[in-house]
Amino acid sequence: MADRWFPMSFLHLLFLLLPPSVFPVPEYESLLLLKKHFTNASALNSWDPGSAPCTERTQWTGLLCYNGAVIGLGLKGMGLSGNITVEALAELKGLRSFSVVNNSFQGDIPELNRLVELKALYLSGNRFSGEIPPHYFSKMVWLKKVWLSDNQFTGSIPLSLGQLPHLVELRLENNQFSGHIPAFYRPTLDYIDLSNNELTGEVPTSLSKFNSSSFEGNPGLCGKKLDVECAKPVENSTKLKTDPDEAVIKPNKKSFKKYLAAIILLGVMLVAVLILAAIRWMRNKKKDTNAQVPAHAAAGGSSDDPIEVQVMVPKVKEVEPSRKSNASSSSSCRGSNTQKARGSAAGVDLVMVNDEKGVFKLADLMKGAAEVLGNGRLGLCYKVMVTNGVRLVVKKMKDMSALGKDDFDREVRRLGKLRHPNVLTPLAYHYRTEEKLFVYEYVPGGSLLYLLHGDRDSSNVELDFPARLKIVQGIARGLDYLHMELSSLEVPHGNLKSSNVLLGPDNHPILSDYGYRPLVKGEGVKALFAYKTPEATQQGKVSPKSDVYCLGIIILEILTGKFPSQYLSHEEGGTDVVQWAESALSERRQHELLDPEITDAQNSSLGNMERLLHIGLLCTQTCPGTRLELKTAIKMIDELQVEGGQ
Ligand SMILES: *[C@@H]1O[C@H](CO)[C@@H](O)[C@H](O)[C@H]1NC(C)=O
Ligand SMILES: *[C@@H]1O[C@H](CO)[C@@H](O)[C@H](O)[C@H]1NC(C)=O
Ligand SMILES: *[C@@H]1O[C@H](CO)[C@@H](O)[C@H](O)[C@H]1NC(C)=O
Ligand SMILES: *[C@@H]1O[C@H](CO)[C@@H](O)[C@H](O)[C@H]1NC(C)=O
Ligand SMILES: *[C@@H]1O[C@H](CO)[C@@H](O)[C@H](O)[C@H]1NC(C)=O
Repeated sequence: MADRWFPMSFLHLLFLLLPPSVFPVPEYESLLLLKKHFTNASALNSWDPGSAPCTERTQWTGLLCYNGAVIGLGLKGMGLSGNITVEALAELKGLRSFSVVNNSFQGDIPELNRLVELKALYLSGNRFSGEIPPHYFSKMVWLKKVWLSDNQFTGSIPLSLGQLPHLVELRLENNQFSGHIPAFYRPTLDYIDLSNNELTGEVPTSLSKFNSSSFEGNPGLCGKKLDVECAKPVENSTKLKTDPDEAVIKPNKKSFKKYLAAIILLGVMLVAVLILAAIRWMRNKKKDTNAQVPAHAAAGGSSDDPIEVQVMVPKVKEVEPSRKSNASSSSSCRGSNTQKARGSAAGVDLVMVNDEKGVFKLADLMKGAAEVLGNGRLGLCYKVMVTNGVRLVVKKMKDMSALGKDDFDREVRRLGKLRHPNVLTPLAYHYRTEEKLFVYEYVPGGSLLYLLHGDRDSSNVELDFPARLKIVQGIARGLDYLHMELSSLEVPHGNLKSSNVLLGPDNHPILSDYGYRPLVKGEGVKALFAYKTPEATQQGKVSPKSDVYCLGIIILEILTGKFPSQYLSHEEGGTDVVQWAESALSERRQHELLDPEITDAQNSSLGNMERLLHIGLLCTQTCPGTRLELKTAIKMIDELQVEGGQ
């Protein structure tokens, strides 16, 4: 005994004298530390500093050893309570399994998620309580078995449980978990027990292979499995109608080319109109004298011809800045200050909301060469080069009549103050009753939609997985920023889709067409992509979570390389990327759905592709409540880069 005891305490001394980083803490020390913070640890009497924990001959109670190292702790039914010292467990480098089943531990779940190598975690039969944070499990990627049953846990089932790539067995029965069941896409999952909780909503289809005993004792659950019909969300008249221009955008390249051809044709027509208008303008200029105001400009009357409006308005402005209504300006403006005059001029010229690219006037836009870029659902969009060499995009917006001039001004100025590398800030606007012009800086790389589905063969753009991941991360950061800055909006972006993600140099993504929700009215509201989310089509409701859904669609679009049918109003083409990814995953065919272009080149990133796919699916859950929070999604997306340093 004595000779065994001596070297132990000599070693002990050595560890005390040397800085802790030099030697790892020996396992017996970690185990004794663990024991020290247990109360009523009489069952662990064999845990004695005078003996070695893991040898052929002696082995401390409850240890599972392999080659002299502790690989498992099985402290079942030992009447233990007190604290579980995670620091001590973290020193057991070989630890893969941890069980304290049927003891008397209580309080919040300990930070066992620091033990990222664990394959099995058994906490059943204690008095643990409280909520488990949604991403508690996100780093514990090796977990196969998780038992939390027979405790007093409350709150939602952590979303991260649904994402564990190797999860086989999950027992959560006899707790007080509430809310919806998150999505589980683990084809590996063999056993799940969620019975006797307070879960509500529909049993997700991804769990349909399990029989009803897994779900019983949750009065709020519904679904075929349980013979309880789920209340159908009311399909309501907000169901969207066809958008003529979007029906043109078909997913495959052939029809995309048609679409481009249509745009070009439109462009040619517009140039023609422009020329006609210019001629007319020249004539008018000769004819007209100063004070005359074009009828439709003064009355806010209808003119479907955008070019005409633009040509007429600057002319009036140039000629006499403060004339909008002759009568009123002559009577009331005379004595008042210049500010008033400027205010009225604002109605006819551009209002700069961000002058970082210089200051320009409507007249400058008219002088520049214009080129039609496209006809979006919200309006027409064209590129103009102004005299100082800045290239601008002018968007003519219909259906932006929700706000009066002052409120509109306030909203757009708020957008004009945004500054983020992944967000395109408007430069100026022009307000007219009938339509509004928005002026942005031109982003030369085109949109993500075109990058993904356009003519890739000819563009020669390499779009490997790291490049795609970078795009997703940039989008997520921009969206995060918008959610902070525009948090008062019902839906801060509201129109996130690949055609509204522009690409700067190096495929740097820049979000555009955001923050429009307060401005639009009528048909314009339905044109926002947030209004095609399930909650909008079924209940007419949107929320910040609607942006999360839109982000998820982009993620799936980027990974699959498919054009999402979600962008279309009718089922006329495209791929239902959500449905497709869900079913492929539950049948373990996930590799088939990744864009071959990325899987061929980057086999080593397959794990990250799959993880991103999961994130995409967690963002596109039908029910906003089970969708990831934006912050969580961003955190998960950012983590991919760290892990993906292959
Ligand atoms: C457990 O932790 C709490 C709070 O840190 C402390 O008050 C208590 O004394 C600890 N119990 C044991 C047995 O170490
Ligand atoms: C202490 O542990 C013993 C078994 O080791 C158990 O029988 C007893 O109930 C426990 N006491 C408490 C207060 O938990
Ligand atoms: C825990 O205790 C319960 C009740 O005594 C028993 O049914 C169950 O099998 C025990 N669990 C384990 C893993 O031993
Ligand atoms: C459900 O499946 C389990 C095995 O997975 C089986 O033991 C059990 O009897 C089944 N229950 C019902 C109600 O079919
Ligand atoms: C449809 O949704 C809208 C918007 O929330 C709501 O005003 C309307 O009452 C709903 N219609 C039905 C039939 O539920």
